[in-house]
Amino acid sequence: MCGIVGYIGKKEKKELILSALKELEYRGYDSAGIAVMKDGRIDAFKAIGKLGNLEKKTKDFTSHNEGAAIGHTRWATHGKPTEINAHPHFGEHSYIVHNGIIENYREIKEALIKEGITFLSQTDTEVAVYLFEYNLKNSKNAFEAFEKTILSLKGAYAILLITTTAPDSIFFAKNAAPLIVGKNDEGEIFFGSSDAPLIGHAKEVCYLEDGQYGVLNKNEILLYADRKKVLPVFKDLPQDKSYAQKEGFRFFMEKEIYEQSRVLGETLMGRIKNNEIVLEELDEHLFEGISAVKICACGTSFHAGLAAGYLFERFAKIRTDIIIASEFRYKEPLLTKDTLFVVISQSGETADTLEALKIAKNAGLKTLAICNVDNSSIVRLADSTILTRAGIEKGVASTKAFATQVATLWLLAIFIAQKQKSVSKERLESEIDTLLKIPSSLIVDNATHEKIKRLSKRYLHGHGFFFIGRDIFYPLALEGALKLKEISYLHAEGYPAGEMKHGPIALVDSKLFTVALLPKTMLYDKTKNNIEELSARDATILVISPERFELADDFIKTQHSTHVMNEFFEMMIILQLLALEIAVRLGNDVDMPRNLAKSVTVE
Ligand code: AGP
Repeated sequence: MCGIVGYIGKKEKKELILSALKELEYRGYDSAGIAVMKDGRIDAFKAIGKLGNLEKKTKDFTSHNEGAAIGHTRWATHGKPTEINAHPHFGEHSYIVHNGIIENYREIKEALIKEGITFLSQTDTEVAVYLFEYNLKNSKNAFEAFEKTILSLKGAYAILLITTTAPDSIFFAKNAAPLIVGKNDEGEIFFGSSDAPLIGHAKEVCYLEDGQYGVLNKNEILLYADRKKVLPVFKDLPQDKSYAQKEGFRFFMEKEIYEQSRVLGETLMGRIKNNEIVLEELDEHLFEGISAVKICACGTSFHAGLAAGYLFERFAKIRTDIIIASEFRYKEPLLTKDTLFVVISQSGETADTLEALKIAKNAGLKTLAICNVDNSSIVRLADSTILTRAGIEKGVASTKAFATQVATLWLLAIFIAQKQKSVSKERLESEIDTLLKIPSSLIVDNATHEKIKRLSKRYLHGHGFFFIGRDIFYPLALEGALKLKEISYLHAEGYPAGEMKHGPIALVDSKLFTVALLPKTMLYDKTKNNIEELSARDATILVISPERFELADDFIKTQHSTHVMNEFFEMMIILQLLALEIAVRLGNDVDMPRNLAKSVTVE
C-alpha cells in the first residue's frame, strides 16, 4: 500500500510534506518522493529506501510562500523499487502520485506509445500523467483533461496531480484506495491516504468516496462524480495519531483482518482478463519441462502451501508436495529438474526458506517465489516472483498475507490448468468467476464479529484446543491453531478431523475445546461423523458451519456457498477473529506477541 500526501498553502512545503510522509511510514514503503510547485515551476525529488535518503537529497531545498506540493511513499506492485519507478511520475509540465493499481494500464500505455510517447518507468502510474498531458492537447482546460483521464482509468487509484498549466491547484481522484481531504481556518488544504498525516494540521476532513475526483485550490473545492458536481461533506478530524494509523481499529492485526477483502481485490487486479488468468510477471517458458511442484515455506506460509497442494493436484492436475523449510534443508532431498520449486514468504527474509531456495537453485531447479515484499532477499534470488500485494503487514500474527498467498496460489493453480488444459473450458471459467467474487467473501460480518467477542469469554482456560478439518480445511485448521497459539499463548493443535480417533481422542473431556470446521461443500457428512465421535465423549465443541449442528456447544453460522473456497475464506476470518478476541480478553499484546518476531531471519 503506497502513501500519498498533498498540501496547498503558505507554509514551507518540503518539511511539511516530509513530516506528513513520516506519518505514513507504518504503511510500509521502499521508495519516496516529493514535487513542489512554486512561482509556476515544479521541483521534484525521489529516493529509494527510507525517507532519510529523501531528506538528504532535499537538504538544500526549501519552498516558502503560497504554493502546492505532493508527496509519496511507494510499496512496489508494478516494477522494482528503483528511483525511476519511485513517484512522483512526470510528463512535460505535470507530476503525479498514485496509490493503487491501474488495471488497464497496458492498453493505455500501448496506445500512447503509438502516439510517440516514450515511458521511463515500469510502473502503471506513469500512464496517468502522460494520458493527462495527451488529453490537455484537446481539452479547453486542465480540469477537463484531468476528468477525461480519470474516466479512462480502471482499477484502484488515489491520485494527486500538480501541473504548471494550473499552478495553484491540486487535481485529485479516488477509487478503491483511500484519500482524505483536510482543511483548516487558515485556508490551508491537506491530502492524505489516512488521517494520520492530517492530524495537527487539518481541523475538518472529507473522506472521499469511490469514483469521486476534482480540483482544489485556496479559493474553491470542485468535487465531481460521474461528471456531476457533488458537495464535499466535511467533519471534525479526531486528533489521536496512533488511533489514526490503525484507522480506528484496536490493533493492526484487527485492521489487517478487515483489510483482507480490499487487498484481495488488489491481489487479483490485472491478473484476470477476458476470463483468463494473466500472470505477466512469469516467464512464458517457466512451466516447460515441469511435471511436479515442490512447495517450501515456514509457519503460516507453510499452511498456505498445504492449501495450495489441494488446489494444484485437484485442479491443475500436477503432482505437488509441501515441506517445512527447516526440515527440507537437512533431509538431503531428492530433487529433479522436472520439479518447479515454489517458496512462499510474506517477508521474503525468512532464513530457513531462503536457504531452502538456495539448495533448490544449486540443484538446478526452476524457482518461483510467492512473496509480499518486492526486492526482498527471496525475491532477488528466485527466478520468478508473483507478488501477493497485501501491503505492509504490521501484526506479527499473519492474516492478510495468508489470505493473499492462498488467493495467489489459487490463481497459479488455474493458470497451470489453463496452460496444461487439464480441465474443461467451462470448469476454468466457473473457477475464475468464483475467484473474481472472492473479495466479497472476506468482508467481515459485524454480527459474527460481535458473536465471537461474546463467546470468546468461554475459551480462556481448559487444557488446550483442537482445531479440526478435512481436505483443504485441514491446513486452515492448522492456521487457526497457530493464530490462537501466537497471540493467546494457549495450547492449540490443528488436526485432520479423520485422524482424531487414531490417538488424540484419548484427550477428550469437557475441558478439551474443539473448533470444528464443517463446510457444506467438502466432506460434510464425514466431518460431521468425526464431530459426533468427539461430542459423544463430552468434548466442548465450537462448530463453524453453514448448517446448524445440534451437538455443538457453540455454533457460528456461515453462508451457504456453492464453492469450497468461499467457505474456506469465510471460516478463515472467523478463526482469525476468534484468536484475536481470546487474546484481547487475556490482555495480551495482539500486535507484538511475546517471544515472536515479524520476520525470522535466523535459523
Ligand atoms: C505467522 O502468523 C507467523 N508470524 C509465522 O509463522 C510466519 O508465517 C513465518 O515466520 C514465516 O514468515 P514469512 O512468511 O515471512 O516467511
